[in-house]
Amino acid sequence: MNQRLIVIAGFMASGKTTVARALGNLLGCEALDLDESIARAEQRSPQEIIEQEGEDKFRQIETVALSELLKKDAAGVVALGGGTWTIPANRKLLAEHSAITIWLDAPFELCWRRIEAAGHGRPLAPTSESARQRFQERLGVYALADHRIEINVNDSAEEIAKTIAALISRRSGNN
Ligand code: S3P
Repeated sequence: MNQRLIVIAGFMASGKTTVARALGNLLGCEALDLDESIARAEQRSPQEIIEQEGEDKFRQIETVALSELLKKDAAGVVALGGGTWTIPANRKLLAEHSAITIWLDAPFELCWRRIEAAGHGRPLAPTSESARQRFQERLGVYALADHRIEINVNDSAEEIAKTIAALISRRSGNN
């Protein structure tokens, strides 16, 4: 198994958390979710932090949480929040820890359908128009990830995890 941290990035509702879990199961390692770490540390959800204190404050908290998580230096899988990878300081932290970054490149329509179905948990995607604009703005930054995985509507988390595992195995010369 690869000993480097594998990091899953991508837009809101691209499937980061479920894919990270499936990949952790497949590789037999721990899968963490940055938003969950933040919620545990802050005793409130990212949504509440953004609504109560704004996005800038949330980004500060998020960078501290990422840094703490990386300090533990446990090999495994981490699902980022949708905006984590867009912040240069976070990309620097991940590079310093030699993390392998995977971008789940899901079409906007798929993400939006899931965002809508999940209800009102995402203050940074209040309407389809603003979410689409944010999506477009972020594409170029997500593309800085080490690997891009194209996500189709029918792909299961297990299938996506297998694709990632094969990619990483090839990359480390294991086959
Ligand atoms: C955000 C995405 C959310 C959460 C916060 C900000 C973003 O995570 O971190 O609401 O900026 O895209 P998900 O990608 O899991 O929705």
